[in-house]
Formats: sequence, C-alpha cells, structure tokens
Amino acid sequence: MLLKPLLCLWALSSYHLVTRAQTYESRGELWLAPTSNEPSIQNPYVTSGPTLNVSLNQAIRVQSPAGFNSHWVGHWITTTENLHFVLITFSNVVNGGPDNSTDGDSANGWLIYSLASGGSSSSFIAGKLTTFGQDKLRIQFGDQYELHSLTDDNISAINVIANYTESNFSLNTTFQPRGSLLFNGGSGSLYWGSVFNHQWSSSAAYTTGTFSTNGTRHTIDPKRSTTWYNQQSDAIKAFATALYPNGEQEVVSVNPDIKPKDAWVSPATNRTWYGSFEVSFLDEYNSVITAVAPDVINRKFGEASFGPSFAFCDSFTVYNGTWKGQSVRGWGIVEQWPAS
Ligand SMILES: *[C@@H]1O[C@H](CO)[C@@H](O)[C@H](O)[C@H]1NC(C)=O
Ligand SMILES: *[C@@H]1O[C@H](CO)[C@@H](O)[C@H](O)[C@H]1NC(C)=O
Ligand SMILES: *[C@@H]1O[C@H](CO)[C@@H](O)[C@H](O)[C@H]1NC(C)=O
Ligand SMILES: *[C@@H]1O[C@H](CO)[C@@H](O)[C@H](O)[C@H]1NC(C)=O
Ligand SMILES: *[C@@H]1O[C@H](CO)[C@@H](O)[C@H](O)[C@H]1NC(C)=O
Ligand SMILES: *[C@@H]1O[C@H](CO)[C@@H](O)[C@H](O)[C@H]1NC(C)=O
Ligand SMILES: *[C@@H]1O[C@H](CO)[C@@H](O)[C@H](O)[C@H]1NC(C)=O
Ligand SMILES: *[C@@H]1O[C@H](CO)[C@@H](O)[C@H](O)[C@H]1NC(C)=O
Ligand SMILES: *[C@@H]1O[C@H](CO)[C@@H](O)[C@H](O)[C@H]1NC(C)=O
Repeated sequence: MLLKPLLCLWALSSYHLVTRAQTYESRGELWLAPTSNEPSIQNPYVTSGPTLNVSLNQAIRVQSPAGFNSHWVGHWITTTENLHFVLITFSNVVNGGPDNSTDGDSANGWLIYSLASGGSSSSFIAGKLTTFGQDKLRIQFGDQYELHSLTDDNISAINVIANYTESNFSLNTTFQPRGSLLFNGGSGSLYWGSVFNHQWSSSAAYTTGTFSTNGTRHTIDPKRSTTWYNQQSDAIKAFATALYPNGEQEVVSVNPDIKPKDAWVSPATNRTWYGSFEVSFLDEYNSVITAVAPDVINRKFGEASFGPSFAFCDSFTVYNGTWKGQSVRGWGIVEQWPAS
C-alpha cells in the first residue's frame, strides 16, 4: 500500500526562528503566527509564477495513474495556556478498492506531541471509504476525519475536523495560508524518482481552533501558532526547495549521503528510527544542517503505525547549521519512511 522505498526527509522550517533566534524552549514565544497578512491566493508568485493552479490542484484526482493524493497538515501550536504542541493530521486518497473505489488503500491518521510533558499519541487507520467533494475541496474519511475548504478557491481557509474517540483525540482547526506558497522543484510539478507528480506547501498559515487529547481541551492562540500544509504525490530523490522570506524560491541539490545518528527502537513496532540527521547540500557554500529530535531516545515520539507491516515516523526536530555561509537555526519535522 503506502510503502515507499525511501528515507524521506522533510526538514520543514520557519524563518521566524531563524531571524529571532531563541532556544526552542526558552520563552513563551516558540513559534509565531505568519508575519505576512497576504492571503496566499493573492501572492504574485502563486498567481503568476511558473506554478500549478493551486485552486484546481486541490481537486482530488483519484483516477490519475499516480493516484496518490496526500494532504498533510502540521500545526505548530501554542495554546492559550502557554503549552506547546506539534500536531499532525494526514490523509491519502488512493483508488485501490474494487472498481477504483477509495475504500481500499486510502489512509488517515494523526500524531500529537506535547513539548512540555513529552506525551505523544497517534493513530493510523486505513481501508475506510473516503468521499470527496466535487465543487470544493472536501475529503471525508469515515466519520473520523474531514478536511474541507471554507472558500470557493479551495485554499484561503481550510477546516480540519478529527474525532477519534477510541484514541481520546479530537480536533477542529482552521488554517489560512499566508504569503507565497512553496512549490517543490520551483513549480510544484516535478519528476520525483520515476513518477511525475505535483507537490506544494503552504509554509505559514494563520491558525485557530481547539483540540482535545486525553480528556483535556486546548484552545489555540493564533498569535503564537502556525500551520504547514502539504499537498503531494510520490517521493524518491534528494533535493531541497527553499522558500525565502522575500518569496524567492530556490531548488538545491542535496548530497544523498545523509548521515543518520542516534538510533532508537520503537517499543510498539520494534522498528529502528533515527534521532538526528546531518544533511549537506551540493551548493558552492558547502551548506550543512544538523537536525536533532530533542530527547527522542528517551521520549520515543513521532511514530505512526498500522500493524507491524507499516509505520513511519514524523518527529519534532530542531536544527542548526550554515546555509550559504550564514548560521541558521530553527525547528521543523523530520519524516522517516522505512526502507522496506
Ligand atoms: C485557476 O483555475 C480556476 C478555475 O478554472 C480559475 O477560476 C482561476 O482564475 C485560476 N487561477 C489562476 C491564477 O489562473
Ligand atoms: C475546487 O476544487 C474542485 C474539486 O474539488 C474543483 O472542481 C473546482 O474547480 C476548484 N475550484 C477552483 C476555483 O479551481
Ligand atoms: C480505474 O482507473 C484506471 C486509471 O487509473 C482506468 O484505466 C480504469 O478504467 C478504471 N477502472 C474502472 C472500473 O473504473
Ligand atoms: C495520553 O495518555 C497516554 C496513556 O496515559 C500517554 O501514553 C500519552 O503520552 C498521552 N498523550 C499525550 C499527548 O499526552
Ligand atoms: C466525536 O464522536 C462521538 C461519537 O462517536 C461524539 O459523541 C462526540 O461528541 C464527538 N466529538 C466531537 C468533538 O465532535
Ligand atoms: C468547528 O469550530 C467552528 C468554529 O468554532 C464551528 O463553527 C464548527 O461548528 C465546529 N465544527 C464541528 C464539527 O464541531
Ligand atoms: C480519555 O482520557 C482521560 C484522561 O486520561 C480519561 O479519563 C478518559 O477515560 C479517556 N477516555 C477514553 C475514551 O479513553
Ligand atoms: C526486534 O528486532 C530485533 C532485530 O531487529 C530482533 O532481534 C528482536 O527479536 C525483535 N524483538 C521483538 C520483540 O520482535
Ligand atoms: C549546532 O549546535 C550544537 C550544539 O547544540 C553545536 O555543537 C554545533 O556546533 C552547532 N553547529 C553549528 C553549525 O552551528
């Protein structure tokens, strides 16, 4: 089903923390709302660059041969009670069922990580009928998850609702993408491995809403929270797409010799994951970034699994290094997929 032969590394980051560098837990302000108030759909690169029409690209294309529509939402939350959480929901719409229906391989899940307590929970569910809207972006996965656009352009305000009663988790959030979107490969249309696919992200979004975990309800402080949203297809090779604060996009080769360290074994699946990676870039500055999941060897967070046969790991990560000769630091997610 979703198995992909790769170690996929997503070093998501935010320039807020790079420019206003703080250690990641030193003050109340860990991550902030996007600095731009410009709705992404009005950004010049989004409307006039060599890019996908993102309003149309939000349409679900289950009949495409690549047939893998992945919508990944990462919330970086400060609550009104000053607690920090990283919260991820995702859905893959695949027409693997009988007569191309979506009740075969489609999958959905979530992960939550509390920076304060180290508590983490997740669940991953597959094999349920997924329905999707014809007029607007709307993906519904059983009665447990819904991602839908509140606006006709499919992108300016997106609501996520999740309700996993068995796992003691529910969520109702809305995010509004701000500033330029990040178009992977520069245009969002690219060959990755042997597969042509589309992939783009909103790297900053104004975020509101509430969520409950283990019986406690939390309210998002929109001034100190943001969202990363990915719409993607398939994956394989080593490259990076950088989005600068001024909107400039740059595609950079990544040295495929990525150096993983700090192995830890999941008590749930007995799989080995890595707590840190050194990634170097094939640019003229020998840029290099080290990404470390804080205390992951003790806290063992980030894995989402579906039985023994399938698992991946999205862990909260801080990074530092040099980028084009300048020191950089920040935070993000590193996603690992098993090699088999
Ligand atoms: C994207 O496609 C929609 C629907 O066809 C259209 O209304 C909109 O103008 C297009 N956007 C751009 C930036 O071309
Ligand atoms: C929004 O997505 C729907 C499919 O989900 C598509 O039919 C519609 O054309 C899109 N809207 C725009 C403005 O592109
Ligand atoms: C299923 O989708 C494929 C394209 O991916 C198409 O060629 C085929 O005709 C479809 N089958 C049915 C029963 O709709
Ligand atoms: C929820 O409770 C379970 C069981 O006590 C615990 O393992 C997990 O860490 C908690 N989740 C969070 C996000 O705190
Ligand atoms: C979640 O679903 C259950 C029923 O399965 C319902 O009782 C509960 O109110 C729902 N919670 C939310 C937050 O929607
Ligand atoms: C989600 O929250 C919004 C804003 O508070 C509310 O209008 C909507 O009814 C909620 N949706 C669900 C399913 O609870
Ligand atoms: C949810 O977590 C709370 C607090 O840990 C607990 O009291 C409650 O029984 C749990 N509910 C379920 C359905 O597991
Ligand atoms: C976990 O995997 C190791 C090898 O990777 C194996 O030796 C060990 O028996 C496994 N443990 C369990 C409980 O499956
Ligand atoms: C990154 O931070 C570590 C300590 O956390 C430090 O040892 C290392 O020199 C830093 N690397 C760079 C390139 O700044």
